[in-house]
Amino acid sequence: MAGYSFSKDFLWGVATAAYQVEGASTADGRGASIWDTFSATPGKVREDHTGSVSCDQYHRYREDVQLMKGLGVKAYRFSVAWPRILPAGHGPVNPKGLDYYDRLTDELLANGIQPWCTLFHWDLPQALQDEFGGWADRRIVECFGDYTAIVAKRLGDRVRHFFTINEMGCVSNQGYQLGAHAPGLKLPRREFAQVNHHVLMAHGRCVQALRANCALTPQVGVAENPCVCVPVLETPEHIDAAQKAFRIKNGRYITALMEGRYIAEFLEEEGPDAPEFTEADMRLIGEPLDFVGLNMYAPDYIRADPAEKNGFTSVPLPKAYPRMVPEWLFVGPSITYWGPRFVRDLWGVKSIYITENGCACDDRPEPDGEVWDTDRVMYLRQHFIAASRAVQEGIPLKGYFVWSLMDNFEWQKGYTERFGLVYVNYQTLKRTPKLSAKFYAETIRRNAVV
Ligand code: FCB
Repeated sequence: MAGYSFSKDFLWGVATAAYQVEGASTADGRGASIWDTFSATPGKVREDHTGSVSCDQYHRYREDVQLMKGLGVKAYRFSVAWPRILPAGHGPVNPKGLDYYDRLTDELLANGIQPWCTLFHWDLPQALQDEFGGWADRRIVECFGDYTAIVAKRLGDRVRHFFTINEMGCVSNQGYQLGAHAPGLKLPRREFAQVNHHVLMAHGRCVQALRANCALTPQVGVAENPCVCVPVLETPEHIDAAQKAFRIKNGRYITALMEGRYIAEFLEEEGPDAPEFTEADMRLIGEPLDFVGLNMYAPDYIRADPAEKNGFTSVPLPKAYPRMVPEWLFVGPSITYWGPRFVRDLWGVKSIYITENGCACDDRPEPDGEVWDTDRVMYLRQHFIAASRAVQEGIPLKGYFVWSLMDNFEWQKGYTERFGLVYVNYQTLKRTPKLSAKFYAETIRRNAVV
């Protein structure tokens, strides 16, 4: 392969999540989610925005599938809203909720786009939060398994690719420890550890439920956002240190899933705050996967440090280090290479996808409606170059989902941060592809960085 190209069957896609794009939050019997409650609480979301209308993809999915077709993407990563399917979290099924995902799936397939379905992208039924504290209670594990089985029975004859829980660490950490996301709790470290443990167990239960209930043999994976360690220099000592750091720093999350255990370094570090677990829990958590998806945004630079117990140190970012609009989104395109490489080298994974990458920019339409987001094009181009390097070196990176198809409800930032390739006017809901959409379409067409 010459230049910055990709394998012939490289899967280009775009990603969204239910609460961020669907709107229609009370339509057709949908129950409330913790995000409806959280965003309706004054002061929790910037400008008190909520997802109640959002991009209204629930009603406009046909138009959005045409936008995807225009990009030339081969796959769409979307999520199912649990409270649409089970308004009370468990118990009676809402058939109209299932019908929506049926229609969306059929529309995608009719347009030659593969549906890649995430079971949970943060919109927990409020009823389960009220009933037993949501992810804080072990009962959530079986509830999630039962919900998964319902979705699998309905979509599993057409959807081949499933993700369990988007960014497991964010569910527990942002939602139950930092309080920045719904349900907005700030639990002590010990309790947070247990919340996270339940999330991991629910993931395992979900894998089992998918395998048991899909008509087609499903391909099941995660969409995890590990802390992506990048060697400060590409020398053997720093690469080795960064690889060690990747495994240890993600000990509570992807490392636990991949190894089916909490590694000694993690347990030692946590001491009395470590999660309580049984061997059976860990077997569930370690359910084998078909692929690993990585949501990747910002780098964590690592250097070798023989003076440190584990042989590495994180290098803080200098003050003028470049970033995009979100205060956390520091630019580090080489994560797109190092993430997949470490996942392969540490755990022998044979199928890896970038399941999210993208950036929010200060997009402003010109009077004619065009958005010239040269900054997003610059950002994506650098990431694609790093992805191409991975592919050319034989790392099994098989696809790339840009976050996001369109501007949407960016959690606690509301609509103030725009991540889309397509601009959304929130007054009229008109969609306008940005320059970056044209750049992406051309990249896909040539299957090479342009
Ligand atoms: C990820 C989330 C996704 C979106 C992007 C910007 O952490 O999975 O929903 O908010 O960040």
